[in-house]
Order: sequence, then C-alpha cells, then structure tokens
Amino acid sequence: MHAFTWRRAARCRPTRTPHSPTVGETGCRSNLKTLYSFHKGIGRYNIRGAEIHNGLSTFNPMPKDTLDTPELPDTPEPQAVCNTVTRSAIFIVATLASGQDAAEKVREWCGDVAALVRSVGKRVPSGNLSCVCGFGSDAWDTLFGAPRPARLHPFREFGEGERRAVRTPGDILLHIRADQTDLCFELATQLVGRLGDAISVVDEVHGFRYFDMRSMVGFVDGTENPTGRAVADFTLIGGEDPEFAGGSYVITQKYLHDMAGWNALSVETQEGIIGRRKLSDIELDAAVKPSSSHSSLTTIDDANGDEVKILRDNMPFGRPGAGEFGTFFIGYARSPEPIEQMMENMFVGRPPGNYDRLLDFSRAVTGGLFFVPSATLLEALADRDPQAATTAADQQPDTSSSAEPRHDGSISQNE
Ligand code: HEM
Repeated sequence: MHAFTWRRAARCRPTRTPHSPTVGETGCRSNLKTLYSFHKGIGRYNIRGAEIHNGLSTFNPMPKDTLDTPELPDTPEPQAVCNTVTRSAIFIVATLASGQDAAEKVREWCGDVAALVRSVGKRVPSGNLSCVCGFGSDAWDTLFGAPRPARLHPFREFGEGERRAVRTPGDILLHIRADQTDLCFELATQLVGRLGDAISVVDEVHGFRYFDMRSMVGFVDGTENPTGRAVADFTLIGGEDPEFAGGSYVITQKYLHDMAGWNALSVETQEGIIGRRKLSDIELDAAVKPSSSHSSLTTIDDANGDEVKILRDNMPFGRPGAGEFGTFFIGYARSPEPIEQMMENMFVGRPPGNYDRLLDFSRAVTGGLFFVPSATLLEALADRDPQAATTAADQQPDTSSSAEPRHDGSISQNE
C-alpha cells in the first residue's frame, strides 16, 4: 500500500495552481480513492468518521457521509497534531535526568498522558484541551531503544552570526492547547508534576491568541496552513515508516522580536517582508512580492514541482514589563525535511544571501526537533524495554535497501 504523495494535495490548492482542479472538481475527486487508501494506513478515525476520544486525539477530517466503508483493522491513532487552533497554548521543553530510574518514570508516564488529558479536559468539554508529546533524538534511544523513527535526528542549525537557527537542549516536548488558559495550566501542572525529578524543564512558554489570529508582528499567521484532509496528508507518517505510522515530526523555535525596530518600518515595507497585506491578509501580487519575502522563502516544492506544506500553530507570548515580545514557532510535518528546507531558505537565503528580512527583527533563541509517536504507540511505549527492543531490532533482516519506492513526501531530488 502506498501513501498519499505531497503533489496530489498541492494540486487542490487553487491560489497557487489556478489552472488545476479544486476540491469538488474532477482531479481531486479522482484522488479520493488514493486518499482513502492512504488514510487506511494511518488511522481508523478518518475512515469511519467515528470520533475517538482517548484524550489525545479528537481530529476527524473525513465527513461522516463521505465514504461508506466496512470495518477496518486497528491502525495507529495519531496524537492531537491536527487539532484546530485554540486561544491558548503552553509549550514545555524538558531534558531527561540521567539514570535508569528517570527513564523508567518517563516510560510509565507515557501510559498516563491520555488519562490525564481526559481527566482535566472533561471538566470543560467545550475547552478543546489537547496535548502532543514529542521526544528528541538522543532521548528516544535512551528511553525506547531501537527501532527508532527513520528520520529522527538532532535539530540541524542553519545560518551564522546574528542570523542563526540555534539548537538548544531538549529531550521532551509538550504542546498543550486549549481555549482557556486554566485548562492548559492545570494539564501542564499534572503532566510535569507526575514526571517529577525525572526531568528538568529548560523552557516554558505560555502563548496567547492575539486579536484576529495575528502574530506578534501584527500580521495574520496561519493562513496558508493545509486544510481538510490535506492536514493529515502533510503531517502524519504513512507507509514510508510503517512501525511509526500515525506519528509526526515537529520543529520548535522560540523567537524574540525587536518590536521598536519593526514598528519603525512603514506598513508597506513590512508587507514586502512578510509577502502579504497587513490589514486584509491578502497575498501580494506576484509582480510586486519580493523573492526574499517570508511567504516566498517558506513556499517550497518537491522534486515534481508540487508544493509541500507544513502545519503551523505559532503563538505570540511576552512580558511587556520586561521588554519581551516573542513568537513560539511550532511546525508539524511527516518528515523534518520540508521544515529544514524552509529554515535554510530563511536563514541562509534562496539563493544564499537572499534571506528572510523578518530575521533582522526576530532572533531565534531556541531550536528543537522531536518525534511525535502516534497516540497508540505513546501508550505502548510505557511497556517498552529499551534493551530488549534494541536486541530484537538487531535481529530483524535489513530492509533498508528494499526496491519498494518511497512515498513519504521527501523533498529529496533523488526520488
Ligand atoms: C519569527 C517567527 C515567525 C513569524 C512571526 C511568522 C509569521 C508568519 C506570517 C505572518 C505568515 C503569513 C500568513 C500565513 O500563511 O500563515 C507566515 C507564513 C508562513 N510561515 Fe512563518 N513565521 C515565523 C517563522 C516561521 C518559520 C521558522 C517557518 C518554517 C521553518 C515558517 C513557515 C511559514 C510557512 C510555511 C508559511 C506559509 C507560506 C505561504 O504558503 O505563503 N514561519 N509566517
């Protein structure tokens, strides 16, 4: 079974490919079968249209009446990666304490997360509480051993000097979202409390939604996120790494802004830097949009020339009294590569030197890459014995040189 490829989803985007079919027209309708087979591989939730509430995932992108299909075998259920945006979020990055006791405690905790989300979330059913947990590359090996997610590696740095995407310590990421701050706060308290001295929190950011979905720099943020079924298609691992199907990769960066410098620019200059109109959020016409605009540099294509998207849920944060004004960037994808390509374009430039001017007013002070297991796997990891798992994986035949083509959304030119 092959996963849905990037290019099919990209063709459904009328703004960038005006001559290709939009949803409801022939091209995308004919892709329904492909979509169906892709989803079959990653989650029962979107095939049956059933709402599954385990506290980690409530996303249900497939309309109930779209496909009338028979019962499907159990497949991994994703964490709440694809949940809708909320009013509040808490981002916690922690490092793992050394020693077997700490590792054992974190593994046990993996089995408790869903129940804690349910307990806190049930008290305010309309609050949309969810939590996504991710693990860094080194932490994965310590906690769970082999097998490991195919594309998990330490955060890659880009740029140099003042304009640099820095890597900072981080073994565990918690992305807690809700429409009320109290829900996020209570869940963070419970999750961190249960981990106790097995971790040290190295970064904690409380984000808020700023007016009409605006980022700290005053522009609407999130407009070009994928929507509908494309959300899962661009963010959830499918057949390309079957043991980790339903999982995702997530990259986070905490940015601090020079708001005095940014606000000293004319609105027109700011619009050229972002690539969209500030008030209306409408994309600048191609004839006037600079190739260095944030929007241009973060628009990338695969080897076939089809657009590759990521799912962002950035949040403004800050402390005016301390002169702190920031954006917590968070991007999900089914491979780290598209996000890394975007960072390279922003920090180094496309072509090199033609960099993102937003970075003249925004400094990345943290950077981390994490793997987000499916909710099903997260729960199962509680019982993982890393030694036994590694030994068993060593005895598996090596299938890495399989003749099967990859359909993982890679932007590699070699596909
Ligand atoms: C200082 C931090 C950042 C701020 C304030 C910011 C803000 C924005 C804004 C206002 C937009 C336009 C509206 C939209 O489509 O969402 C945008 C678009 C976008 N941003 Fe960022 N962003 C930041 C960092 C990043 C980073 C680090 C990445 C990826 C590595 C990224 C990826 C994207 C993408 C993919 C788009 C959509 C481009 C398009 O299709 O037009 N952003 N961002």
